[in-house]
Amino acid sequence: MWTQLASLALAFTTLASPEFLQRAPRSLSPHSGFQDRHVGRQSASCTATWNGTRLTGAAEEAACRFTVRYGRAGRWEDSVAANQDGVDAAAFPKMCPQIGAVQSALATPLPSDEDCLFMTVYAPVNATAESKLPVFFWLHGGAYVHGSVSDSGFDGSKMAEEDDIVVVFAQYRLGVLGFLPPEGASTINDPNLAVRDAVLALNAVKTNIAAMGGDPSHVTLGGQSAGASLTRSLFTDARPAPLTLALLAVPAAKGLFHSAILQSDPLNFGSQTFENAADLREHVYGNATLANCTGECLKNVDLHSLLSVQDEVGAVAPFTIHGVPMGEVYRPQFNTTTLPSDPVSAIFNSPSTLAANISALPVLLSYTRNESGFTVDNFISGPQVANAFIFNVTVNKLLGAERAKAFLDAVVYPLVPGPDGMRTSLEIPLTDAVWRCVSLAVGAKYAAAGGTIFVGEWTKGTEYNAQGGYCSTPGAVCHSDDIYPTFESSPNVTANATGLANEIRPFWVSFIKTGSPGGSWKAFAANSTMADVYNLGNESAHAACPPGFWGDMVKWDWQVYSNTTNSTAPPPATSSPTGKKESGATTGSSVPGGVVLLVAVLGTVAVLS
Ligand SMILES: *[C@@H]1O[C@H](CO)[C@@H](O)[C@H](O)[C@H]1NC(C)=O
Ligand SMILES: *[C@@H]1O[C@H](CO)[C@@H](O)[C@H](O)[C@H]1NC(C)=O
Ligand SMILES: *[C@@H]1O[C@H](CO)[C@@H](O)[C@H](O)[C@H]1NC(C)=O
Ligand SMILES: *[C@@H]1O[C@H](CO)[C@@H](O)[C@H](O)[C@H]1NC(C)=O
Ligand SMILES: *[C@@H]1O[C@H](CO)[C@@H](O)[C@H](O)[C@H]1NC(C)=O
Ligand SMILES: *[C@@H]1O[C@H](CO)[C@@H](O)[C@H](O)[C@H]1NC(C)=O
Ligand SMILES: *[C@@H]1O[C@H](CO)[C@@H](O)[C@H](O)[C@H]1NC(C)=O
Ligand SMILES: *[C@@H]1O[C@H](CO)[C@@H](O)[C@H](O)[C@H]1NC(C)=O
Ligand SMILES: *[C@@H]1O[C@H](CO)[C@@H](O)[C@H](O)[C@H]1NC(C)=O
Ligand SMILES: *[C@@H]1O[C@H](CO)[C@@H](O)[C@H](O)[C@H]1NC(C)=O
Ligand SMILES: *[C@@H]1O[C@H](CO)[C@@H](O)[C@H](O)[C@H]1NC(C)=O
Ligand SMILES: *[C@@H]1O[C@H](CO)[C@@H](O)[C@H](O)[C@H]1NC(C)=O
Repeated sequence: MWTQLASLALAFTTLASPEFLQRAPRSLSPHSGFQDRHVGRQSASCTATWNGTRLTGAAEEAACRFTVRYGRAGRWEDSVAANQDGVDAAAFPKMCPQIGAVQSALATPLPSDEDCLFMTVYAPVNATAESKLPVFFWLHGGAYVHGSVSDSGFDGSKMAEEDDIVVVFAQYRLGVLGFLPPEGASTINDPNLAVRDAVLALNAVKTNIAAMGGDPSHVTLGGQSAGASLTRSLFTDARPAPLTLALLAVPAAKGLFHSAILQSDPLNFGSQTFENAADLREHVYGNATLANCTGECLKNVDLHSLLSVQDEVGAVAPFTIHGVPMGEVYRPQFNTTTLPSDPVSAIFNSPSTLAANISALPVLLSYTRNESGFTVDNFISGPQVANAFIFNVTVNKLLGAERAKAFLDAVVYPLVPGPDGMRTSLEIPLTDAVWRCVSLAVGAKYAAAGGTIFVGEWTKGTEYNAQGGYCSTPGAVCHSDDIYPTFESSPNVTANATGLANEIRPFWVSFIKTGSPGGSWKAFAANSTMADVYNLGNESAHAACPPGFWGDMVKWDWQVYSNTTNSTAPPPATSSPTGKKESGATTGSSVPGGVVLLVAVLGTVAVLS
């Protein structure tokens, strides 16, 4: 039965675009100002010295944008610091290898290249080496398989010119190139190449950012979606790349960043287990396309073969490998030197083992009210009245039989009435499970461990990828709808987009400058509830998280798959052996619906992150 479902899944994903996990490519904005700004005029006033090299960046109104190389790396080798030879500081860098540029801001998306360890720096045009401005260092999202510094909305010029903040966007290696070296690679036992890329970039910022007006001792690390998950990983990054050890003998929080912003981190997902990584390697490198290639052959195999298999496996693995979530198939692996423990597990079970000093690291944690809105479109196409059978079957696929039974028997998420009730009935618990309620729980634990943390829910947003579907229904605040308001960078300059950005950006600016968002936004406490979640947008929020439900009656993914903070401890009893298939949901001939139902049966947690 499972084999049948798996091959159906394969059939379905072949029908779907390779961006199955992603929101559809956005139609490019006709707004010409945006395009003009990104063409980037080389400007004599935009010059700066970075590690001894004179750079001429691009003028973005009253800000300058510089492209800087922070590293070089051979395939599956650790990245090392590098100089600026041959770098055009006024042009966007090529993206790290990925198929399709699903979020590009550019009319003609840039090509992929393995030589991709670059960042863009936005600084006020009048900044000098004496300015010592706070730095906002951002890691992009894209499910760990997509994204770049040329993504839509990654424009720090507003924050630079209006708020005197130096904004940095950094690329890091993606997919199998960033997280899954093959057997025989020197990095196989600690495969967190992308995590160490991020640390190398932070180190380059620490060493050089003063020349662009930044204060190296005042860096806020942030990111959205997978970029937030990566930020989370850096909390436990105890021992980064060998070359940077000298700088990082001090804990990461003290040396490289002093506060953190996590936007829409799917905190429900744990880090990769040793077993899951082994299974994925088998799927990827054992695939017919690559199986006859090892060692030097793999190191030189063409990118297209590698990425095709990566994406094929990425679409199927969540159905065939127990514990691999759809949306973060390739991800940082814990129980390694770089990442000794799973960060969320450590926050809950042993906060003192985190590399970051919690009491010295203020955190701003936010999620959007309808995070999973586009996910439900993946298995319920269009408005329809809620149906208990489809609901049960989908929940079974999402949570696995054991957790689904606890979920359904408790009936704390009743079916929602109305013509769009089916999608809404699933969107609410899915958002709660993967983002919302786990964010509240992490907030409480972080506070209990002595940390200062601010939790906010975006009840208004600016649609990131106009694509129709659930996310285009009035009022929906979906995953990524917080990006434009954060940077006030919507290509579609409307009164609403500008109004929202002006309402919300000051909280971010204040947090970056002072470690507190200010206004009436109170820190979360160990006993806080929804009442202490700041309402960003002032529209109605979902109902409170059901008490004692998530993480207790129904476990989070990380509790089931990566609840261990001891690298030598045996796997938890709830964890399944390598490669064990998840129990498939029951299906029935009486059930109507073609592809939609097929997806309902096969769908698991599909999230862009
Ligand atoms: C710009 O915003 C308006 C109003 O929200 C919307 O109708 C239009 O589709 C948007 N255009 C793009 C390109 O997103
Ligand atoms: C600075 O440049 C030199 C070569 O000019 C290079 O070896 C070094 O790694 C660079 N350091 C940083 C932190 O960028
Ligand atoms: C740049 O000039 C503006 C306008 O005078 C001022 O508000 C801002 O603080 C200046 N920024 C720096 C870094 O000097
Ligand atoms: C591996 O096998 C496939 C098909 O069997 C062939 O097309 C490909 O060229 C082979 N690759 C190498 C590196 O030998
Ligand atoms: C293995 O590769 C082939 C050819 O690219 C592809 O059709 C197939 O789906 C892959 N199998 C898996 C399990 O990804
Ligand atoms: C952690 O940070 C707090 C607050 O800044 C400080 O008092 C404490 O000494 C730090 N602990 C360590 C181990 O550095
Ligand atoms: C859905 O699951 C609940 C709880 O297990 C059960 O009571 C109900 O009969 C199921 N409904 C359908 C239509 O399967
Ligand atoms: C702008 O915001 C108002 C208030 O939230 C809302 O009623 C209106 O529909 C929005 N307009 C557009 C074009 O989205
Ligand atoms: C949380 O605990 C504090 C005292 O530590 C108390 O003042 C406050 O009322 C409590 N809040 C809730 C919601 O229980
Ligand atoms: C996770 O680990 C902690 C510490 O070992 C333990 O107290 C807790 O019960 C575990 N939770 C689950 C869901 O297994
Ligand atoms: C981790 O596991 C080892 C071996 O089982 C044990 O000796 C050690 O005490 C454990 N450490 C913690 C912190 O639980
Ligand atoms: C931790 O990694 C070691 C190999 O480095 C492996 O043998 C062990 O099973 C792993 N433990 C867990 C809990 O994943």
